[in-house]
Amino acid sequence: MTEHDDLAGLTMVVTGATSGLGSQTCRQLAERGASIVLVGRDRAKVDEAIAELSSAYDPARLSSATADLSSLAQVRNLAEELRHRFLRIDVLINNAGIDVGERRLTTDGIESTFAVNYLAPFILGTALADAMAQAATTDAAGFRHPARIVNVSSSGHRGGHLDFDDLQGSNGKFRGQRAYNNSKLALTLFSRELARRFDPAQLVVNCADPGFVKGTALGRDLPFGYQVIGTLLTPFMADVERGAKTAVWTATAAEAGKFTGAYVKGCRVVQPSKKARDPELAARLWEATQALLLAGRGRAENGAGLDA
Ligand SMILES: NC(=O)c1ccc[n+]([C@@H]2O[C@H](COP(=O)([O-])OP(=O)(O)OC[C@H]3O[C@@H](n4cnc5c(N)ncnc54)[C@H](OP(=O)(O)O)[C@@H]3O)[C@@H](O)[C@H]2O)c1
Repeated sequence: MTEHDDLAGLTMVVTGATSGLGSQTCRQLAERGASIVLVGRDRAKVDEAIAELSSAYDPARLSSATADLSSLAQVRNLAEELRHRFLRIDVLINNAGIDVGERRLTTDGIESTFAVNYLAPFILGTALADAMAQAATTDAAGFRHPARIVNVSSSGHRGGHLDFDDLQGSNGKFRGQRAYNNSKLALTLFSRELARRFDPAQLVVNCADPGFVKGTALGRDLPFGYQVIGTLLTPFMADVERGAKTAVWTATAAEAGKFTGAYVKGCRVVQPSKKARDPELAARLWEATQALLLAGRGRAENGAGLDA
């Protein structure tokens, strides 16, 4: 093994692999010999991403899966598919995310930002964590290599607020930025709570914050005014190669396998917001999410939505 294929033999699942940070993350992992499962919602885009990587890296190490992560059923099916298709999953990078300017409901009747940025990582993470933890390895020197879940968060979480009577921002005027910030706060709390539930010798769960990154499609559905601001801020933003490094480091660095429940930015651990460090808030959100997902199953069976 050379320094260029130090990830050979490891299977890493990356959501949102068809664009921006996700596709760059896959490239950086492929460069180091990892086997990657690219997850996207659009079959043609996923095939294109695979074809592009295959021109430079061993196609035998590239697999794909499709799922619309705004659909609870599709996320659950994806988790099931991944568990059956892959003997082991060493790393899950929950990277897919949206930032939209208007309130849109998913087919389940859930506010879309909350569904894609938070519920999908919650379902995937909780569905795969046990199997991932059991697959943790010990090397010849007796050192444990835990499996890793990396949730791609954002400094937006610092402006987040969770109203347990209105987690999906149904009351009052919908503000896309607020929904985005809230979803990232929820994701950061989820990381902490999932981390707490596992032995860090078997599974570590951390957040990676890429910083403010240019050249991705994230703001494509924001109102024109936000797009103008985004363009004006471009000189102060990192390029996508640099932005992806934090998730890659969190997913692969030996040092990053030694902590859990942490928030990583610029390839080092930093403190997330005070709310994101609140264990009671994390536990309460976990319970509320489970209740919501359970209610979702019931309502879906009765043909109704989940707009709470
Ligand atoms: N860019 C930044 O400055 C920045 C800063 C902090 C955090 N982040 C976070 O970084 C992550 C990646 O964002 P990005 O900037 O690379 O944006 P991006 O270029 O828009 O990529 C987002 C990815 O998520 C996928 N996705 C969106 N909705 C989906 C759905 N319903 N089902 C399945 N996949 C879906 C997209 O698929 P399609 O290709 O099919 O659209 C795309 O591959 C996000 O979680 C974002 O919040 C970004």
